Amino acid sequence: MAQDGDHRGRKCCCCSLSLILAVGFITLLTWLSVRVRYSDPKCSIEYFYVPALNKTLNSRTNTTLNFMVRLANQNKEQGIYYDDVHLSLSNANSSVANYTVPRFYQGQKKKAKKWGQALPFNNQTVLRAVLPNGSAVFRMGLKTQVRFKIAFWKTKRYGIDVGADVEVNGDGVKANKKGIKMKKSDSSSLLRSYFPVCVLMNLLVFFAIC
Ligand SMILES: *[C@@H]1O[C@H](CO)[C@@H](O)[C@H](O)[C@H]1NC(C)=O
Ligand SMILES: *[C@@H]1O[C@H](CO)[C@@H](O)[C@H](O)[C@H]1NC(C)=O
Ligand SMILES: *[C@@H]1O[C@H](CO)[C@@H](O)[C@H](O)[C@H]1NC(C)=O
Ligand SMILES: *[C@@H]1O[C@H](CO)[C@@H](O)[C@H](O)[C@H]1NC(C)=O
Ligand SMILES: *[C@@H]1O[C@H](CO)[C@@H](O)[C@H](O)[C@H]1NC(C)=O
Ligand SMILES: *[C@@H]1O[C@H](CO)[C@@H](O)[C@H](O)[C@H]1NC(C)=O
Repeated sequence: MAQDGDHRGRKCCCCSLSLILAVGFITLLTWLSVRVRYSDPKCSIEYFYVPALNKTLNSRTNTTLNFMVRLANQNKEQGIYYDDVHLSLSNANSSVANYTVPRFYQGQKKKAKKWGQALPFNNQTVLRAVLPNGSAVFRMGLKTQVRFKIAFWKTKRYGIDVGADVEVNGDGVKANKKGIKMKKSDSSSLLRSYFPVCVLMNLLVFFAIC
C-alpha cells in the first residue's frame, strides 16, 4: 500500500518535470524560430534607358542598355552575402545581353543601388524589340545565391531567381516611372522559415508519447 503511493508520487513528479522541460523547449524554439526566420532580398528595376530607342536623339547607333537595379535587405537581424549577381536581358525572341554585378555584402535593412551598362551581342536584337505601337518590351532576369549572416555564422546558399518585363517608351526610357518589382519565376525554396516549426512538431510528438 505504502509502496504503491510512493510509486504514484514519483510518477507524478516525473510527469511535471517533463512538462516543465517541454514548456522550456517550446519557449526556446519559438524564440529561435523568430530569430532564424529570414526573407529574401527585394529586387526591383528602378531605371532603364536605351539611347537607340530615344526618338528625339534620332540616332540608332548607341544600342547600349543602361539600367539600375535595387536590392533591398528587409531583415532586421541578418546581413546578406550575395554571390555574383547575373542579370540577363532578352526580348520576346532572343537573348540580348548579359551583365554581372560582382559579389558583395549587405548589412541589415540596407538597400543597394547597382548601375549597369550592357552592350548587346547583336545590335539588331535591341531595334527589333520595338512593337508596332512604338514601345519596346525587354525581360530582365536576376539570378544569384545568397547566404544570410546570423550573429557569427553564415547559412547555406539559397538560390534567388527573379525577373520582370520592362516597357520602354519612345524616349527610350522605362514607361512606368515607378520601380518594377522582380518576381520569382519558379518555386524557390519556402522551406527555410518552416524548419524550426518542423523541429517543434517533432518535439511535441516526442513529449506526447512520453
Ligand atoms: C533623348 O535625347 C534627347 C536629345 O539628345 C535628350 O535631350 C534627352 O535627354 C534624351 N532622353 C533621355 C530620357 O535621356
Ligand atoms: C550594328 O552592328 C553592325 C556590326 O556589328 C554595324 O555594322 C551596324 O552599323 C550596327 N547598326 C547600328 C544601327 O548601330
Ligand atoms: C551611350 O549612351 C549612354 C547613356 O546615355 C552613355 O553613357 C554612353 O557613353 C553612350 N555611348 C556612346 C558610345 O555614345
Ligand atoms: C522574332 O525574330 C524574327 C526574326 O528572327 C523577327 O522577324 C520577328 O519580328 C521577331 N519577333 C519579335 C516579337 O520580336
Ligand atoms: C547570356 O547568358 C546565357 C546563359 O549563360 C546565354 O545562353 C546567352 O547566350 C547569353 N547572351 C548573350 C547575348 O551573350
Ligand atoms: C504596346 O503594346 C504592348 C504589347 O501589345 C503593350 O504591352 C503596351 O502596353 C503597349 N504600349 C502602349 C504605350 O500602348
